[in-house]
Amino acid sequence: MSTTTTLDIVPFLSQQSQLWKACGIRGLFPLEKIPGMISLLAGRPNPSTFPFESLTMKLKPDLAGMPSSTVEGEDPFTITMDGDDLNEALQYGMTAGVVRFISWMENFQTHVHKRVADGSWSVTVGSGSQDLMHKACVALVDEDDSVMLETPVYPGTLGFMAALPGTLIEVNADTQGLNPTHLESVLTNWESTHPGKRFPKLLYTIPSGSNPTGTSIPEARKIEVLKLAKKYNFLILEDDAYAFLYYGPEGQQARSYFALEGEINGEIGRVVRFDSFSKVLSSGMRLGFMTAPPALASVVNMITSNTNLQPATLTQIMAYNILSRWGPDGFLAHCKGVAATYRARRDAFEGVARKHLEGLAEWTTPVAGMFLYIKLLVDEDTDSAALISGKAVEKGVLAVPGAAFMPLGGKTPYVRVSFSLIEEGPADEACRRLAEVVREAREEKAT
Ligand SMILES: Cc1ncc(COP(=O)(O)O)c(C=O)c1O
Repeated sequence: MSTTTTLDIVPFLSQQSQLWKACGIRGLFPLEKIPGMISLLAGRPNPSTFPFESLTMKLKPDLAGMPSSTVEGEDPFTITMDGDDLNEALQYGMTAGVVRFISWMENFQTHVHKRVADGSWSVTVGSGSQDLMHKACVALVDEDDSVMLETPVYPGTLGFMAALPGTLIEVNADTQGLNPTHLESVLTNWESTHPGKRFPKLLYTIPSGSNPTGTSIPEARKIEVLKLAKKYNFLILEDDAYAFLYYGPEGQQARSYFALEGEINGEIGRVVRFDSFSKVLSSGMRLGFMTAPPALASVVNMITSNTNLQPATLTQIMAYNILSRWGPDGFLAHCKGVAATYRARRDAFEGVARKHLEGLAEWTTPVAGMFLYIKLLVDEDTDSAALISGKAVEKGVLAVPGAAFMPLGGKTPYVRVSFSLIEEGPADEACRRLAEVVREAREEKAT
């Protein structure tokens, strides 16, 4: 019978992580939960002074997930927060998040990723997933460390990664997401390309509907990546911000790295997963969650307790009230509805893009997320940055040049366009203008 081992993440923690000390006040918060304890601890404001009597949320009936149970007489689309619930929501709370909200997500992770709650992982809430990714990287990366980034990469991550002390290593993505063959070649050639340097400690990847490429990595590739992670002993930071926006064929969404690691490697604890509520509940609520080995979570919490103290209690309790009414399947049903909206927008955008850009540009049709990564076909040497900041702006069309997604810089012919908000009319005009830019650039090259 095969046994599953649990990776000890402690040797991966950075020296920096040791410098964060438990906050003298917040470190004592858990003791307040001991029955009978009288707390004189925190300088919490008195909630009777807050101006809110109650807060009522009215959910959109056409988008809401089906309630898992309906209390008789209760309107399933109206949720009122008042009394103790509201007082808690308006108050300082636990560093890692509201306990019942965390429990909801831990159950959800078990439901979706089939990972039993065996103590090898826990959920931590953040002010968006980005907050947690940054803190996790601070907890992991030292000056002599190397971090592999799926390239092109989301600039939000690049922004803080570039400010970390380690070295950034590009690993190419292609039309099917992260390319394991390139990953393997980076690793097998490591000693000759980086003599004397330790093997990379981390791989950061966006497996579903990547920002910017729109691609989703198939399960077979994930398996190759997981095997390499074990062989070369690196952690996988799985930034799955667009996982809930899957609109590809029913039943064919690849399982997550978090779901697969035990089965593939006979080992758990190498994958640190980041989920985001930004695209399916609200980006302004600033809620994301990290599923990670407790030793890493505890450093992240230490950083939180010394920086922003905690994620917002109010939005956590708002989200909890909605999610607990929906249940995991109701939430997934809601996500499916959201994803269907993006599929329709993708179809509409691709329709006008094909009409104007056929032969002038190419892209991979996404099955998740909100981006097309368009290659402008001018010549071998096309630099989209020059074209976009010059001609395209003059013509009144704005897109993000691919250079913004390249950790080490360099020229690229790609531009990222988002179809999340744009209506068909303006999209049609935008593609027409982009086509003019490419045509004129071609003519200029020809003269
Ligand atoms: C790939 C990726 N990861 C993370 C984030 C940040 O998500 P959050 O709003 O949860 O911080 C974004 C936001 O656009 C993103 O595109």
